[in-house]
Amino acid sequence: MNILLTGGAGYIGSHTAVELIGAGHHVIIADNLSNSSPEAVRRIGELTGTAPAFYEIDVCDRAALDQVFAQEKPEAVIHLAGLKAVGESVREPLRYYRNNLDAALTLLEVMAAYDVKIFVFSSSATVYGEPGVSLFTEDMPRGVCSSPYGRSKQMIEQFLEDSSAADPSLSVVMLRYFNPVGAHESGRIGEDPDGIPNNLMPYISQVAVGRLPRLTIFGNDWPTPDGTCLRDYLHVVDLARGHLAAVEYAVGRTGCEAINLGTGQGRSVLEMVNAFSSASGVEIPYVFGPRRPGDIAAYWADPSRAAKLLHWHAELTLEDMCRDSWNWQKDNPHGYSEE
Ligand code: NAD
Ligand code: UFG
Repeated sequence: MNILLTGGAGYIGSHTAVELIGAGHHVIIADNLSNSSPEAVRRIGELTGTAPAFYEIDVCDRAALDQVFAQEKPEAVIHLAGLKAVGESVREPLRYYRNNLDAALTLLEVMAAYDVKIFVFSSSATVYGEPGVSLFTEDMPRGVCSSPYGRSKQMIEQFLEDSSAADPSLSVVMLRYFNPVGAHESGRIGEDPDGIPNNLMPYISQVAVGRLPRLTIFGNDWPTPDGTCLRDYLHVVDLARGHLAAVEYAVGRTGCEAINLGTGQGRSVLEMVNAFSSASGVEIPYVFGPRRPGDIAAYWADPSRAAKLLHWHAELTLEDMCRDSWNWQKDNPHGYSEE
């Protein structure tokens, strides 16, 4: 299948491209490189032996997107392009809404013009808000989100449900990711955050490689077994395979389906620190700091719908996640840049 992968130069997109190409699909990447490097695209080609088609465009640019559709004739779209830093979205809400909402709307309009019916969207567990339970199932309603980032995901899910109701021939899958971590086992592609990382795993990796002095754990007084928050961390390669399963599932059916992608298991921050130390053999110095505003004590995925509909479940272990994060970080201490 010809698959347009927006945001394909990014962390999740680059791993998804590798899995799609490996399964024999023709991948067309559209990315404006606002949070990624052309080197990631080059390495996708290096790893798979097949260079993806690459368009450095803004997905909000209707004319540029039209040209890509006219030239490449995609049969399905996997939409990952978006801004994703929660704290930044609180400071710059309009930039987040403009980018994330415009990108989704423009894509849906161009898909309609070219009669493309399959759309897979990168949503997030954040759409559940704070429901007061830890096991998140897809039939729970979307909750109250604490950030414009989260609200942009909720709004796009609403666009997709409304578009699907208006055009019953659409086939939409909204993948709600839990916490992707890790890297390709080759160590050639991985997460390369700009500046000081916001997320736990890249922060730990940068402490391990000596770029940062210590980790601050946000709170040790949460109502959890060891006092630190629990999250459902899943390997990015499992997540990438979930996209492959989703796009193949979407063929030959119609409707709009929300599907969690997670392992179903909650892990604490301290467990992650200890697992990373064991996998890397490097001690991770840490201190406890205050709770981070907007954090929730504990949640994880109910992954049963993904198993039932996509025949997908996470296969890689916590040890794999830590080993591969470390491999990537130590081989590429400055990410894709060479300094
Ligand atoms: P990323 O920043 O590495 O990748 C996103 C890519 O989109 C980047 O390469 C960026 O350059 C590109 N992009 C952004 N706006 C664009 C635009 N207007 N036009 C073209 N390209 C544009 O992030 P990621 O972690 O790979 O996340 C991919 C998607 O998954 C995002 O939509 C994110 O919100 C979602 N998501 C991520 C997580 C996570 O923890 N990483 C969790 C849930 C959902
Ligand atoms: N944490 C620390 N110290 C750090 C960074 C994180 O203690 O320096 C803790 C957090 O408090 C949290 C856990 O590590 O308990 C995980 O935090 P992350 O920032 O890695 O991930 P979040 O669960 O906060 O957020 C992630 C994605 C969001 C998405 C959200 C939805 O980053 O994009 O999941 O579930 F919206």
